[in-house]
Amino acid sequence: MKKIAVLTSGGDAPGMNAAVRAVVRTALNAGIEVYGVIRGFNGLINDELVPLNLRSVSNIMQRGGTVLYTARCLEFKELEYQQKAAEVCRKHGIDGVVVCGGDGSFRGAQKLSQQGINCIGIPCTIDNDIGCCEYTIGYDTATNTVVDMVDKLRDTSASHDRCSVIEVMGRHAGWLALSAGIAAGATSILVPEVPYDFQRDIVDRIKHSLSLDKRHFLVMVAEGIGDVNKLAHDIEEATGVESRATVLGHVQRGGRPSARDRILASQMGNYAVHLLMAGKTERVVAMNNNVLVDFDIDEALAMKKPFKKKSFDMAYEISI
Ligand code: ADP
Ligand code: F6P
Repeated sequence: MKKIAVLTSGGDAPGMNAAVRAVVRTALNAGIEVYGVIRGFNGLINDELVPLNLRSVSNIMQRGGTVLYTARCLEFKELEYQQKAAEVCRKHGIDGVVVCGGDGSFRGAQKLSQQGINCIGIPCTIDNDIGCCEYTIGYDTATNTVVDMVDKLRDTSASHDRCSVIEVMGRHAGWLALSAGIAAGATSILVPEVPYDFQRDIVDRIKHSLSLDKRHFLVMVAEGIGDVNKLAHDIEEATGVESRATVLGHVQRGGRPSARDRILASQMGNYAVHLLMAGKTERVVAMNNNVLVDFDIDEALAMKKPFKKKSFDMAYEISI
């Protein structure tokens, strides 16, 4: 292994920069040259690569987003472009690529591996929806960002005796809604993993809490569950509590990464390079029970992550 490349792909996640830094520093320490690929798989297809040295990754660990830029590169799903990317790697003498992203990016890494370029995936997504890995890079920061914003909403919601209905990201997963819902003390948490009943899980809970002198409410809703404006309207009609909807949006993906995400990213970036050095390919790095492990990409993509139903039930027990 003489030269490797690193790229970030799919939705950005806070902590990606710390992962890139760890990849670069680990490789350079081992005498391996490193290229940064610009804008995910696009950069491989278009031959947009920059050599990285020790100082190229100075002063980036604390920054959100990704200094390598990212993209959703749809052409990369086609064989022709996967072959082109592999040719570009060979032209530069690159024999390994570290792909930082979500499950889509790992599919891309798998395709590139099949073209003869060793690839290792690092799970970076605020959605925490990677089956083989308990915590993904970015999830902790996004949870803190959401909680921070919801605390602010609570100030105004409490002042007006209102119900705030808040939509958070997560694509098809409810992890961010669950963690932020617990940390912000939501009355109800709606996630795709657990079917809900409007009367039982929202209206009855608010009415019960009203009878116990609670005057303001937070309803945390994972994106994809439904129209939060309509939900707020229905809650107001059914409970008499004035309600407002807020869609937090892309601000959830930004901001300086938490210490936890920086540490996780540093560990995973370092581990990924060691896997490449050991001649491994088509692997995804994961951190489970505080231990770094790796999985075959196929196996990783097929794994279902059991939703933390106990934590979900706990949240309902304590938010009355
Ligand atoms: P994420 O990695 O966050 O899940 P996407 O699902 O958008 O984000 O995937 C990121 C990129 O990974 C895509 O834009 C594409 O370049 C690549 N990719 C996704 N699916 C495939 C696939 N089946 N084959 C090849 N590349 C893919
Ligand atoms: O996967 C991260 C994520 O932020 C999801 O939570 C969300 O559904 C999606 O990306 C938004 O994608 P885009 O940035 O393309 O609008």
